[in-house]
Amino acid sequence: MSRRAEPSREDIERLVAAARSVRRRAYAPYSGFHVGAAVLAEGRIYRGANLENASYPLSVCAERNAVAAAVAAGRRRIEAVAVVAGDEEPTPPCGGCRQVLHEFGPGMLVVSETTAGRRARWRLDELLPAAFEASSFVRP
Ligand code: THU
Repeated sequence: MSRRAEPSREDIERLVAAARSVRRRAYAPYSGFHVGAAVLAEGRIYRGANLENASYPLSVCAERNAVAAAVAAGRRRIEAVAVVAGDEEPTPPCGGCRQVLHEFGPGMLVVSETTAGRRARWRLDELLPAAFEASSFVRP
């Protein structure tokens, strides 16, 4: 997949604001850890919040719900993801979400902000080097 142009500062600010606002809709009664995420896909923003379940392993992270919203809208090229959570340090996407994000934008920008406004940024390929991907296996 080709590298995309760097998202503008304005796009990044809109993305972080979208993640911050959707965090209010998180359903996280078990962990109490509310997370909002937003992806920038082909110039549009799609949002997701974490969604937990009484059967704990069925819970889904905010990032994966945002990816699902983009794909359901027909957008498969993700340029950036923003995450907002309430920890003291910016929350990086979990390993499973890194893998799912990689499928739709291996070079994407990852921005994470705390509710207090502390921000970190990475490239996804720094967070998930040597990723397993479509070219990693031969289809029958
Ligand atoms: N969680 C996310 O939604 N995104 C992350 O990047 C880290 C973790 C959720 C999963 C679970 O609902 C809660 O945070 C605690 O792990």
